[in-house]
Amino acid sequence: VAALSARSDFEILASHRFLNTAFCGPIPKVVEVAMSERMRARATAPTDVLQAMEQVDVVRGQVASLLNAQRSEIAFLHSTSDGENIVARSLALGPGDNVVTDDLSYHTTHVLGEALARSRGVEFRVVPSRNGAVSAEDYSHFVDGRTKLLIVSAVAHVNGFAHNLPHLAALAHEYGAYLYVDAIQAVGTREIDVRREDVDFLCFGTYKWVMSGFGVAPFYIRRELLDLIAPDRVGWHTAHHLRGDAPYQSAKKFEHASPSFDCYYPLGAALHYLESLGLENIEAHSTRLVSLLREELTRRAIRCFTPAENRAPTISFWVGGPPELTIQALRSRSIEATVSSEEPRFSPQPTAPVTRIRVSCAHFNDENDLQSLIDALADLSPC
Ligand SMILES: Cc1ncc(COP(=O)(O)O)c(C=O)c1O
Repeated sequence: VAALSARSDFEILASHRFLNTAFCGPIPKVVEVAMSERMRARATAPTDVLQAMEQVDVVRGQVASLLNAQRSEIAFLHSTSDGENIVARSLALGPGDNVVTDDLSYHTTHVLGEALARSRGVEFRVVPSRNGAVSAEDYSHFVDGRTKLLIVSAVAHVNGFAHNLPHLAALAHEYGAYLYVDAIQAVGTREIDVRREDVDFLCFGTYKWVMSGFGVAPFYIRRELLDLIAPDRVGWHTAHHLRGDAPYQSAKKFEHASPSFDCYYPLGAALHYLESLGLENIEAHSTRLVSLLREELTRRAIRCFTPAENRAPTISFWVGGPPELTIQALRSRSIEATVSSEEPRFSPQPTAPVTRIRVSCAHFNDENDLQSLIDALADLSPC
């Protein structure tokens, strides 16, 4: 399986077997150039803020078309975690209400749920995963008439498990609750259509699978819910709307002050780049690589944390021993992947040390990257 893009689009590939996009995506040349050109422009001429605001709106259009949303449903926040904070804090949650997530969702969701429990007496419910997966059926035992919000990671950071979002949305809506989706591990890996997925809120940082800089996290809010969710802060950028001259009809109400203007130039380039490759092609390519790797892992009796038939470019599996051995085996072959000691709740072998390896198969990866990884696994013991 050859890479989908020219390997030379990514300078990092000359020195690394890069299998770690789930941690932080590499920057393609076109994105690097867009950022350099932006800095050059600011170094040589006065900064034109009006033009920068136009660029923000250009990117808003790109994001809207990426998600099949309307422009007015897209706001720009700074990080993935911002979206769920805004939504959860704006809903009038109180004692007796509950918020539901699962044990594969990102740390922020758990920290936020625990904070809501402490400050508002909200019941925070965590659905346990089984064999690396959680279904809408599993969720249904935790959702009831007092559930206000389901918060999920579309694709889990720990093992790439991909939720069936329409099923979760149907469950949430049946009980009059909302579905909030952290999509940082999903956007850029496949087509995501917010109408088809039927999600209410969705947010994603752009430094992983979108392969741009830090500091911009697009936030989708379903149009009918715009009035329900209030901004958590105000500033010069929203002043005239808030004073009632022209009340907001759009998600721009969440953009209270200067955004990371400079980041919208590389982000625009990154979104063009993904569009030119085609999300369908990207997904098909990753799927091929993930299934090749899974076959090889099975042949070697290496246990996978990621369930089979999963729809994501990320796969996690376990080897025996402490992480240091794995880190050494990967480093000696210049392989970049995520290596961590397994948490007891997920460990397949609670009495001995177990290391989790998370591998991301992006469009620039090829079979040689996987072969290097497989060679490294020969140095390690299964668990
Ligand atoms: C699923 C998921 N959500 C959120 C984050 C963190 O995002 P941010 O720092 O943009 O809030 C990560 C980072 O690894 C992640 O994997």
